[in-house]
Formats: sequence, structure tokens, C-alpha cells
Amino acid sequence: MAGVTKASFGKLKTGEAVDIYTLTNKNGLIAKIMTFGATLTELHAPDKSGKLGDICLGFDNLAAYEKGHPYMGSTVGRYANRIGKGRFKLGEKTYKLATNNPPNHLHGGTKGWDKRVWKAQIVPKPDGPAVQFTYVSKDGEEGYPGNVNASVIYTLTDANTLRMEYAATTDKPCPINMTNHAYFNLKGSGTIHDHELYVAAKSYTEGDADLLPTGKILPVTDTPYDFFAQPAAIGDRITAAGGKEPNIGYDMNFVLLSGAKGYATVARLSEATSGRLLEIRTDQPGLQFYTGNFLDGTLVGKGGWKYVQHSAICLETQHFPDSPNQKSFPSTMLMPGQTYRTKTEYACLVK
Ligand code: BGC
Repeated sequence: MAGVTKASFGKLKTGEAVDIYTLTNKNGLIAKIMTFGATLTELHAPDKSGKLGDICLGFDNLAAYEKGHPYMGSTVGRYANRIGKGRFKLGEKTYKLATNNPPNHLHGGTKGWDKRVWKAQIVPKPDGPAVQFTYVSKDGEEGYPGNVNASVIYTLTDANTLRMEYAATTDKPCPINMTNHAYFNLKGSGTIHDHELYVAAKSYTEGDADLLPTGKILPVTDTPYDFFAQPAAIGDRITAAGGKEPNIGYDMNFVLLSGAKGYATVARLSEATSGRLLEIRTDQPGLQFYTGNFLDGTLVGKGGWKYVQHSAICLETQHFPDSPNQKSFPSTMLMPGQTYRTKTEYACLVK
């Protein structure tokens, strides 16, 4: 039945209780989100014959999530992606963050928002079942300044779209960059080499050997990163995409054509045998494209699926990495009195 149900998903080692919310829309699509990390654990989308299948990687139980994983379905904050050397300056003061992805800071630090228990409440939305997750991040948490009130509303619309609406306020200036870090595999098995991708981007932020932006914005033309003029199967050019052996594949930030100017369709991912087509829409200026290069088969996920390299792809809508240290990039600074707001949708379509 269409609507939202709530159930217990167990307890963390700290004793904190974790709930899981199941959103079902009028077409029977299902999204499950748990309060630990406001994490999307399942998204069931129809294939070309109308059969539903889970298109997200993740785990069967809370203990597996708590053991540690590379942000599968997590809500990431305060700052998704990298901040160089884990430092940024505001006025005369330098803030020091964890360098949990040496030598850089990644995805909010050692205990980012993906590892916090969020509060949740069912909220009314005109176009489908919805749940709002909220988290209060204390001044100094993970080295960041200011008390921040963060929220994300997940709505599973009757147009078969999972929408995430993020908001945050702060009482001290602080960089904010929230995203969802879902790992998609549209056929629910194997690798994503056969998935086809289109990205509405003609340029990307050049990364150094540790994937930190150099500050340069380069054209995608005649590179393996051109999914605009040359939409292609991901596997076609993946060995030339970059990375240090053995972690080869795509791990880069696109500069989206729509910029931060409006809400637009920025990527389309499809897979022929299932006929599934995932459309990504956002108001964000950047999109991190990551092909699970660091997955090495040691993580065993849902139903015993061994997550080997390239089992899934992430399309993380975001501001550019290291924006707090890159003057020429759009600003990520949130000031007291302002409200950070951003919206991303995963539309579950068929080709
Ligand atoms: C990053 C990757 C990282 C992955 C999982 C992505 O957003 O770009 O380098 O390995 O997240 O943490």
C-alpha cells in the first residue's frame, strides 16, 4: 500500500536505536531509508517489463553498516568530497579537519553525518510519501565551526522519482556541501561496464594524484570523460579513465553545464537488459562520477553479493571539491542567517 511505514533496524554498539522507513508510492516503487546516516538502503525500480528490482548497493543489516563501508547510500556532510590537507581558512583563523583520506579530508571526516543517528518524522508532501531526517551538528564537531541544523527530506514521488531536499542553517560561517552517496547498479548484479552514461558537462575540475582539484577547469573533449558529445558504455574507456593501480576507473568531478543557475537533468544512466534508465536532476554545479574503483571484493553486501571493483557507480551531486580553498570555485560558505538549500532527484525510468 502506498505510504510510509516505520520499523526498528536494530541498535548500534552505543545502544542508540536505529529505525528504518519504507516509502511506497502509488506505482509500488519502494525506497528504504534508515536513521543511521539518513542512509538510502534500498531503491526498488521497475525494469522494462515492470518488474521491480533493487538498484542500490548496501547491506542486509545494521551491524554490517556499522562495521564500516564506503558511504553506500549515505547522506554525506558537512562537506562531501575532499578538502585539501584537511584545512581551510576563514579570516585569520585556520580550521583543522581530519585527514581521513590522506593527505586530505573526505566526506565530513572520521565521524561525519553518515555515521550519526538522525531524527526522523513523516511529513506531508502532495506528490508522494515523504520522511524528513534532521541532525544537529555541534560547534567544533569534526573540527568544523558553528552549530549546524541539517535536514534532508526524501520523497518517493508518484512520478517514480526519489527526491532529496537538503537544508542547513548555522550560527557561525561554515562550508556546507551535502550529497547522497548511493551506489547504483541497474541490473542488480555484475559490474557497470555495460551501463551507458550521458553527462551534461563539457568540462571537469582537474584532479591531482590524490584527487584534489588543481584549480584548473579542463574541457572533456577528446578525453575518456566526454559523456556529453559521446555518451558511451562506461567500460569502453574505463582503463584510460585514471586512478592508481589497482584502483583504476572514473573518480572525477564534472562541471555541469547548468551550473548552479537552475534545476536541470544532468545525467542519464541506462542498462540495456533491464531497460532501466536513471535520470539525475539537480541544482548543484558539480557531479562526482565514481565507479567503485576501491571496491575489492572484501565487502559482502545484500544477499551475499561480493562487491568487486566496478560493481556500481556513484553520481554525487555536489559543489566542487576543495571549494573552501579554491577562490575561483563557486562558494560553499554558509553564513548565519542564511539557509542552505539544494535539491536532487533520482528518476527511475525505463528506456
Ligand atoms: C570519492 C572516492 C571515494 C568514494 C568512497 C567518492 O566520492 O570520489 O574517491 O573512494 O567516494 O569514499
